[in-house]
Amino acid sequence: MRRVLSLYRSSVGKKILMAVTGVIFVFFVIAHMIGNLKAFMGPEHFDEYAHFLREVGEPVFPYGVLLWIFRVILLGCLGIHALFALQTWRTSTVARPVKYAKGLQPEESTFASRTMRWGGIALFLFVVAHLLHFTTGQLHPEFVPGAAYDNLILGFQMQWVAALYIVVMFVLSLHLYHGVWSSFQTLGLNHPRYNRYRRPLAAAVAIAVFLGFASVPVAVLTGTLS
Ligand code: HEM
Repeated sequence: MRRVLSLYRSSVGKKILMAVTGVIFVFFVIAHMIGNLKAFMGPEHFDEYAHFLREVGEPVFPYGVLLWIFRVILLGCLGIHALFALQTWRTSTVARPVKYAKGLQPEESTFASRTMRWGGIALFLFVVAHLLHFTTGQLHPEFVPGAAYDNLILGFQMQWVAALYIVVMFVLSLHLYHGVWSSFQTLGLNHPRYNRYRRPLAAAVAIAVFLGFASVPVAVLTGTLS
């Protein structure tokens, strides 16, 4: 317990916990993206998959329980990730109230790394809106509980909603690009022989996630999915 507390208090510990929770999220995001691609296999496959997510774990776990365990883990990860991001933001603002002058930017600064904070806030707001859109339906014009495929298509038939999702997926891919790259460093996966693969690997994850997620709203906008 004392170890966990000292990890929590140290800035290195916070970075490690941010990296670990971030990596858990990356796995979730990739799994979710692959699941969404089932929409291209037709309504039955997609609805069956949505149903399977609730059944998974039976009979060891009662109906829906394993899904709820995943939800609680994800929520915990999101909470820790966001809390430490805000704390680090506050600490760095106190330590350096005056911004870096141009030309004195930290060496590894990229567009993706400079947009981590605002991108993170945008993604947090997106997740809240997204749950009210496709999971609980309050932000959906014609939500029918259990009709996952129809909810998806009707949700994206509003063009501005589909366009907004595509823009947010771009923000997500930037966040992942920097996050995946920097988590290698934080978690000590740092070896001269492999370092040159870190950026290409982070870019591959970011591009795959963008293309995979954006393909669904693009397909609804172009009429490929209906
Ligand atoms: C174009 C992009 C996306 C589409 C089309 C999409 C679609 C969906 C759909 C249809 C559901 C409801 C599933 C069900 O109730 O059976 C859902 C749930 C969810 N999505 Fe997404 N999603 C997208 C992007 C994202 C992203 C980027 C994140 C997170 C960063 C995310 C996080 C979640 C979460 C946490 C749930 C709730 C899962 C649960 O508790 O059952 N989604 N999504």
